[in-house]
Amino acid sequence: MKLIVSNHKMNLTKEEILSYVKELSAIKSSNKLVFCPSYPYFTFFDGNNYILGSQDVSDQEVGAYTGEVSAKQLKSLGIEYTIVGHSERRTILNESLETIHKKVNRCLENDIIPILCIGETKEEIHKKEEILSMEIKSAFDNLNDNRENIIIAYEPIWSIGTGLVPTIEEIEKTLSWIKNYIKEHYQVECKTLYGGSVNEENISNLKKVQDIDGYLIGGTSLKLNNLKRIIDILEV
Ligand code: PGA
Repeated sequence: MKLIVSNHKMNLTKEEILSYVKELSAIKSSNKLVFCPSYPYFTFFDGNNYILGSQDVSDQEVGAYTGEVSAKQLKSLGIEYTIVGHSERRTILNESLETIHKKVNRCLENDIIPILCIGETKEEIHKKEEILSMEIKSAFDNLNDNRENIIIAYEPIWSIGTGLVPTIEEIEKTLSWIKNYIKEHYQVECKTLYGGSVNEENISNLKKVQDIDGYLIGGTSLKLNNLKRIIDILEV
């Protein structure tokens, strides 16, 4: 079973999300569908054919942190997955490696599955493994337990929102490198997803990637018809 994670980012108005959710009930999939809308929209999602995730979480536990949402609060809303360390947060919002580590820890403490995003920029392609290992290590070191619950989303930054996608061989090689690195250093097996310009046109090809556990989909997930095509293609 594959994990199909939709990351809505900061998109859609109340009216748009209501019609989106209405259509969702008709979707059938034997794969696991996870939707990550903006925080205020969680309560509009009430179907039982999908699961909810958040796009972020606070690195703090509880208290005077205006604007933040804690892992405990997310858990109390039934949120099962949280995207952590998305490149947009790392770069635009200056999220540090230490903050990302704390967020992963908060998720694990509250029994939420962190989807840890890692990936290199175009300029870093020649030292991709150095970047990926640094991002894994800073998140994985000094965690109390349950590292096996972390899901890694490999998202080359140059691929996000650009229409550019690595070759199947490159994705396969990188996902297998990630799995091996984690196994060797932390003795656990983590699921790995690919993200970056996944769409209804390239999914038939991306489907061929060996040992892939799923996909993290941004822009295309906003258009339900296109997302449905992806879901259908992954079904057969
Ligand atoms: P994209 O975004 O599918 O629009 O490239 C993916 C992501 O940022 O998670």
